[in-house]
Amino acid sequence: MVIKTAEFVKSSGKWQECPEPTLPEYAFIGRSNVGKSSLINALMNHKDLAKTSGTPGKTQLINHFIINEKWYLTDLPGYGYARVSKTLRKDFENLIINYILNRKNLVNLFVLIDSRHTPQKIDIEFIEYCGESGIPFSLVFTKADKLKPNVVLANVEKYKQELLKTWEDLPEIYVTSAEKKTGGDEILAFISKTNQFLHENHVKFDN
Ligand code: GTP
Ligand code: MG
Repeated sequence: MVIKTAEFVKSSGKWQECPEPTLPEYAFIGRSNVGKSSLINALMNHKDLAKTSGTPGKTQLINHFIINEKWYLTDLPGYGYARVSKTLRKDFENLIINYILNRKNLVNLFVLIDSRHTPQKIDIEFIEYCGESGIPFSLVFTKADKLKPNVVLANVEKYKQELLKTWEDLPEIYVTSAEKKTGGDEILAFISKTNQFLHENHVKFDN
């Protein structure tokens, strides 16, 4: 997919405040600091469309971007950020959960996982929650440039084995590096193919 335009639309503190759900939407979620905002910038070939930071907890609202005037890309706050109060952490979690359960035009959630780690409880729990709630999602491993390729593959394999303990089918899996701009084309190809399918089948979301 060629990115002709990528524009910031708005930041929302509640799912009810998000833009009208008339276009297909793809959202990026994952633990705080996993690289959501950086990956969005890499996909859009834009330095600072989404705000990034070395300090976890940078993105605190639901941020909508409109791409090629045809689809929404959404940057969500991270889950599991330890260094905020319990109440604030709960607020973030409620914001995320309410968004994914209620957003009518959410076509796919990209769940980002740091490729440097073996399966983490909080990620597995979130993935299982998506599966149980019927939320369509894919897994995106991030920061692949930080490890040797065979170590990345071994970590991905460990995730697969962990998920196969509960699920028969595995989701789509992408391995990416925002730093080296790898893996993004596959994600964009998936979005493009899905948008085409929705268009051909006259899928509408706002009813
Ligand atoms: P929150 O908004 O705080 O939840 O974080 P986020 O998931 O949006 O992460 P963000 O994109 O802000 O990146 C966090 C840190 O990881 C930054 O210091 C990035 O430069 C770094 N980072 C992100 N992606 C990559 C990557 O692919 N490779 C490397 N080496 N560093 C990365
Ligand atoms: Mg962010």
